[in-house]
Amino acid sequence: MAYELIELDRDGRVATLRLNRPKALNALNAEMMSEVARALAELEADDGIGCVILTGSDKAFAAGADIKEMVDDNYLDIYKTDRFEQNHCSIERFRKPIIAAVSGYALGGGCEIAMMCDFIIASNTAKFGQPEINLGVIPGIGGTQRLARAIGKAKAMDLCLTGRMMDAAEAEHSGLVARVVPVDDLMDTARGAANKIAGHSQPANMILKEVIDAGYELTLREGIRFERRMFQSLFATEDQKEGMNAFIEKRKPHFKHR
Ligand code: HXC
Repeated sequence: MAYELIELDRDGRVATLRLNRPKALNALNAEMMSEVARALAELEADDGIGCVILTGSDKAFAAGADIKEMVDDNYLDIYKTDRFEQNHCSIERFRKPIIAAVSGYALGGGCEIAMMCDFIIASNTAKFGQPEINLGVIPGIGGTQRLARAIGKAKAMDLCLTGRMMDAAEAEHSGLVARVVPVDDLMDTARGAANKIAGHSQPANMILKEVIDAGYELTLREGIRFERRMFQSLFATEDQKEGMNAFIEKRKPHFKHR
């Protein structure tokens, strides 16, 4: 089925999902996010895809949830449909590696969905923020929690309480983004990283992100125990034999379960 508000491209084992609602700076409305959820379900089921890039335009990754769509909602509309959980959070539930390639505005829900990805590569023009306080509300899809874990309480409080934006350099110093590159290099850099990831053993990739994410909810001891069990479990895969034999035989590994 065709998509109206996103573009989905496949190049080898990498899929790029581009938010495409330029007139509204990619504000995340229900239709767009249901398309994102549908596309991610399609990509999760596709064995030919090993890594996904989520991106927007040069001007905006996404300027937040669609304010015009929410303005007349009342408590029960928001509570009963729980549509943000259904669709936006499809990104946090996605089990394969997913990279956010961010240029321009990543505000409110835009910043939140970028943080749901496994890591963020930003262009030098990126601006991050949680300006919901200016609208009389607060972040609603994980912003307060993920931002504070990523950059610490002081900066998260500063950003959320003042509603100010943080530029790419500050976001990199603070630990929110993994790399900052010139805007013209953003997609090549993201594709380079995604291709590398997609060439690895897919079960190892999936388990790796599961273990790192679990660490946010476990004690150190429990996290280390989980890591050890998952490490051990990978010795049940042919890819472990292939990866280690390829090293010993000084050749590139050809993982079966990519
Ligand atoms: C709906 C939006 C929008 C948004 C921009 N637009 N952001 N529409 N929801 N979040 C629309 C504008 O209304 C305008 O449409 C067009 O996009 C261009 O925006 P401008 O404001 O004219 O552009 P500019 O002057 O360049 O300013 C860019 C901006 C500003 C700084 C990003 O648009 C802005 O502050 N946007 C809102 C950011 C925000 O508060 N985000 C948090 C949303 S709440 P027209 O038709 O007038 O041309 C949120 C809650 C998440 O995300 C929790 C639950 C998911």
